Amino acid sequence: MRVSATTEAPLNTSAETIAVGVFKGEKVPHDPPGEPLGALLASGEAGEEAGRLAVTHFQGRQLILVGLGERERFDGEAARVAAGRAAGRAAELRSRSLCWEVPHHVDHGVVAGLVHGTVLRAYRFDRYRPSEPDAGRRLDELILSAHEDFSEPAATAALLATAQNRVRDLGNRPANDLTPATLAEYAEQLAAEHGLRATVLDEAEIIEMGMGAFAAVAQASAEPAKLIRLEYDGSGGQAPLTALVGKAVTFDTGGLWLKPKLDMHEMKFDMLGGAAVLEAVATLADLQAPVRVVGVVGATENMISGRATRPGDIVTALDGTTIEINNTDAEGRLVLADCITYARRQGAARIVDIATLTGGVIAALGRAYAGLMSNDDALAAETEEAGRRSGELVWRLPLGERYAEMVKGRYAQITNLPLPREALAITAAELLHHFAGDVPWAHLDIAGTGFDNQTPYLADKGASGWGLRLLVELARTLTS
Ligand code: BES
Ligand code: MN
Ligand code: ZN
Repeated sequence: MRVSATTEAPLNTSAETIAVGVFKGEKVPHDPPGEPLGALLASGEAGEEAGRLAVTHFQGRQLILVGLGERERFDGEAARVAAGRAAGRAAELRSRSLCWEVPHHVDHGVVAGLVHGTVLRAYRFDRYRPSEPDAGRRLDELILSAHEDFSEPAATAALLATAQNRVRDLGNRPANDLTPATLAEYAEQLAAEHGLRATVLDEAEIIEMGMGAFAAVAQASAEPAKLIRLEYDGSGGQAPLTALVGKAVTFDTGGLWLKPKLDMHEMKFDMLGGAAVLEAVATLADLQAPVRVVGVVGATENMISGRATRPGDIVTALDGTTIEINNTDAEGRLVLADCITYARRQGAARIVDIATLTGGVIAALGRAYAGLMSNDDALAAETEEAGRRSGELVWRLPLGERYAEMVKGRYAQITNLPLPREALAITAAELLHHFAGDVPWAHLDIAGTGFDNQTPYLADKGASGWGLRLLVELARTLTS
């Protein structure tokens, strides 16, 4: 979608459709002659409450009046929801261009929200639907009209929402299309387009290096695993290195702990953490952020075959730790364990990992918040703050000795099947904590938020792209 900002009035732009918001207890701003928008309100067709919306016409244009609710409560997220509704209606009207009259006296968070809500709502996954009948009449232009020049926040917001849509595209691609190898090629292409350095280690190198935990997950698959490393330095080597580590299990059958058949197809989404990491590094480069970041993505399938890992198998991780694999479906933590060690060896001053890791986090938090677990209060607070700024909310869950105790092994140092079978999001994090050690580390469990998370402006089902905005907001601040 083309996104621009102008100080021209909406009627002086080329937009086919104009969206105007109205707050509770305020007048409609810039109602055209004859007050067609006021008339919509007076008739009761439109309303000032958030969620109300109605359409009228003026001089050949469609005007959408959007209720915004109370001004004090209209934040970035409320703007995303309102813009998503307007974009949805504009699309129903077969409009190709929409101009938002930005409400008066709002901050850049609201401006960004209007852009995000529009770009995210207009997303379609049409890679496998080449010729939809209305393909030529899609909403593909957004203009923000305001008294102030909002070009810069609009451009940044468009960059972020577009990158989020690319994460959604990666997630929605099925596992026979998006394999570890095609994801690695995608990363190499991203690197070429954004001036980044990409390194891809193949499965032989993963084994050779001693990543026994990662390799165990990969060994049953016909698709070779890849370790993807994507590096961006906008600081001339000055900033401390932040590692973003992502789980990219391109399909998770559960291994010999086979998943139930009715929802196994959802496990094509098990690579969304890795996808968010790759796009976040590319977006930081687009923004020329003065930071130094390395993305480390472990890409593999978790399959069954005669070579599959057996429950009870003991493997040695990259840092020498021995792990009992008692549950072949708890594979994400095995991949991440070695990726975290790898990130430490790269010299990471802090590590943020992101993964569709546990059903337990869905039981705990549902789909509105991702789980945050961390060994560092300052990094945890910065992550929470980045979550609030980006509208991707996180809720911190505790770590602690009692939980660490639950992942101690019986025949090896640690086990991936915590006992008792409780606190499953936290005990997964405790396994990762073992590998992060005392390097400041934050873990984001996005099993609940990563796909089908019911966010109103992500109307197209499937991958949400959750985490892209948060990771970019967070990494941008980590300059020292
Ligand atoms: N990929 C799954 C977690 C998941 C579940 C993601 C639902 C998205 C939606 C992960 O690999 C897994 O299978 N975790 C197990 C671990 C458990 C057996 C300790 C889980 O959470 O059930
Ligand atoms: Mn699993
Ligand atoms: Zn998984």
